Amino acid sequence: MKREQWGSRAGFILAAVGSAIGLGNIWRFPYMAYDNGGGAFFIPYLFAMITAGIPFMILEFSMGQKYRGSAPRTLAKIHSKFEWLGWFQVGVAAVIAVYYVAVIGWAISYFSMSFDQSWGSDTNAFFFKKYLALGDNSPTNLGSIQWKIAAAMGIAWAITYAAIVGGVKSGIERASKIMMPILFIMVVLLIARMVFLPGALNGINYMFEPDFSKIWDVKVWAAAYGQIFFTLSIGFAIMLAYSSYLPEKSDITNNAFMTVLINCGFSILAGIMIFSVLGYMAFEQGKPLTDVVSAGVGLAFVTLPAAINLLPAPYILGPLFFFALVVAGLSSHISIMEAVTSAIMDKLNWSRKKAATIVIGTGVIVSMAFATNGGLLLLDLVDHFANNVGIMAGGLVEIVLMAWLLNRVADVRQYANDISDFSIGTWFIVCLKFITPIMLAIILATKLHTLFTEGYGDYNLTLGWAMIATLFIIGVLVNATNKQGESL
Ligand code: ALA
Repeated sequence: MKREQWGSRAGFILAAVGSAIGLGNIWRFPYMAYDNGGGAFFIPYLFAMITAGIPFMILEFSMGQKYRGSAPRTLAKIHSKFEWLGWFQVGVAAVIAVYYVAVIGWAISYFSMSFDQSWGSDTNAFFFKKYLALGDNSPTNLGSIQWKIAAAMGIAWAITYAAIVGGVKSGIERASKIMMPILFIMVVLLIARMVFLPGALNGINYMFEPDFSKIWDVKVWAAAYGQIFFTLSIGFAIMLAYSSYLPEKSDITNNAFMTVLINCGFSILAGIMIFSVLGYMAFEQGKPLTDVVSAGVGLAFVTLPAAINLLPAPYILGPLFFFALVVAGLSSHISIMEAVTSAIMDKLNWSRKKAATIVIGTGVIVSMAFATNGGLLLLDLVDHFANNVGIMAGGLVEIVLMAWLLNRVADVRQYANDISDFSIGTWFIVCLKFITPIMLAIILATKLHTLFTEGYGDYNLTLGWAMIATLFIIGVLVNATNKQGESL
């Protein structure tokens, strides 16, 4: 069967940008920047963007386009012994998809509450105690399903299903063409209003104020690299799947630069938007900014609702913000699920409808674990492992395979240059052969060491290790079914 294709170049770019821009930009980036040295975080962040983000995006676009397959198929075609890596990456994507949808579900609930700010004035108690109903739970003692969260997640799943079943061109591309312009307009409107609020500039200064002492901390670099891979949807099967639908000989380098730059520019805008609001909130309450900011999940669902309570016309700005969060999240969730669906279609020769129905049906059921009382804690633990171990390890093995074991980066550069709008220089090879693998290896080793010696939070990490081990074993077992050269 002929592989599906994007309808137009703009359609592909919008879908790739839609995948990249997501909860990672609006929900995660601002607190990452804040937690990791404020303005000083931009140095490792931009370094990671240039040395890993752009070259890796070019690498994955080239691999997907040339081999025309989802991650497992593409990797199997590159080397039949490495199909497992594709399945490992697909597994990481599947894990991310089931908790990512929970955050979209919360955003849908908060969107509906934002018209009259029915979260009340104590937004902290509301989020944790009333909405999540988090009690004495843990990742292994989840409590029961909270149906209002489950229902909101159901809406998100339904939209993802509709887009994926619709196919690459009439489903995913069409959804991206609707969602992305809406998202940009909403964010521009929000920023245009927020930056003129009293105190906003203090908030922005605060975000950009560099704490250079943090630059020497490996954890800050790990955060920057982790954020770059997550936000660009690279290293976990997504961009391989999306670029496998590119028509032959379509541009690679320009598309990759655009996707990366639009995404990272958007993150900075989102940071400005959120810190303007925080600055305003500090001003209104006469408190220092450090007192109003909270890191992590709390930033979007505790601090921002509290800030929205204080805004002029909260019934307009609140819904705009949460709708933007929902749209950004959905267009990424579609891409994460497409990475999984396309892998199953390629492997089992199933129709899109059958693969999507079974994959998403399973996803709906598994994701309910995150709709429980303890769902947030499970999410925190699983997210930590998926990002810091799953994506980093998958990305490292991919790059070592391409740059060292098979020594293919010079060929990839040639391939991309032959068909692209502009050519890339030898910096591409230097980044992929030396800088990025060395950085990823250091970051991963440090992370593993920290997990073994210090753990993460108060969690029992068995579940996290079991998850990573399971994904690896599944990959190896599926790989074993691939008789040498079967999919070549
Ligand atoms: N790239 C997506 C995000 O940043 C997964 O949310």
